[in-house]
Amino acid sequence: MNPRLTSKGIKAVVFAACLGPFGWLAWRGLHNDLTSDPVAYVTHYTGNWTLRFLVITLAITPLRSILHRPQLIRFRRMLGLFAFFYVCLHFTTWIWPDHDFDWSAMWKDVLKRPFITVGFTAFVLLIPLAITSTAGWIRRLGGKRWQRLHRLIYLIAVLGVVHYYWLVKSDVRKPLFYGFLVAMLLAWRLGGWLIGRRDKAAADAAARERSVTAGTM
Ligand code: HEM
Repeated sequence: MNPRLTSKGIKAVVFAACLGPFGWLAWRGLHNDLTSDPVAYVTHYTGNWTLRFLVITLAITPLRSILHRPQLIRFRRMLGLFAFFYVCLHFTTWIWPDHDFDWSAMWKDVLKRPFITVGFTAFVLLIPLAITSTAGWIRRLGGKRWQRLHRLIYLIAVLGVVHYYWLVKSDVRKPLFYGFLVAMLLAWRLGGWLIGRRDKAAADAAARERSVTAGTM
């Protein structure tokens, strides 16, 4: 076991690193350095960081097994919550400086523009995951139900990519790149699930055979 990954300090380091993009944005904001269109800049910046944190969060499970570092699980909740933190900033930018709290215009936007509908859905789905991310909620829901609920993260990541793909006007390379990453991360899980099913079927068949053999003895 890597002692650096289990030390208390490392969590603080990862936390500070996750806050880095926000710190950089705040620094540029304080120095009036958010380009000639600050609202668009902040929207794009926070949208990108939301998607990055979603991808990093999804990458933790495969990385644990590929790198033989099960301790990486310690960071998954924090990373997921940072995805939520950045999407809250993204959403707040849309509500406040972008729409100036004009709820009816925002609602029209959600209903009329497919990329907003999809982004909004992803945001709404992230809320229960953020709320139930604590140990208390795992206990309350029970491990199985909690896991089932948190599988929504797969759908949220796909919606995030679709949101990005639909909003870009011409150059779709970046959304396609994120789409590729999300597809790989989901394929890895699907592969694990299929292998698990095959192994279980083989184990069940072996158990059946053993009981038949025992019965004929
Ligand atoms: C998990 C949820 C979300 C993710 C992952 C996400 C991600 C992104 C990304 C990656 C971009 C483009 C950044 C770039 O061009 O460099 C973006 C732009 C944008 N997002 Fe989101 N977003 C999410 C939710 C939302 C929500 C809830 C809203 C508002 C209701 C929203 C409104 C926008 C807008 C207005 C833009 C800019 C569109 C443009 O420039 O034409 N997003 N988002």
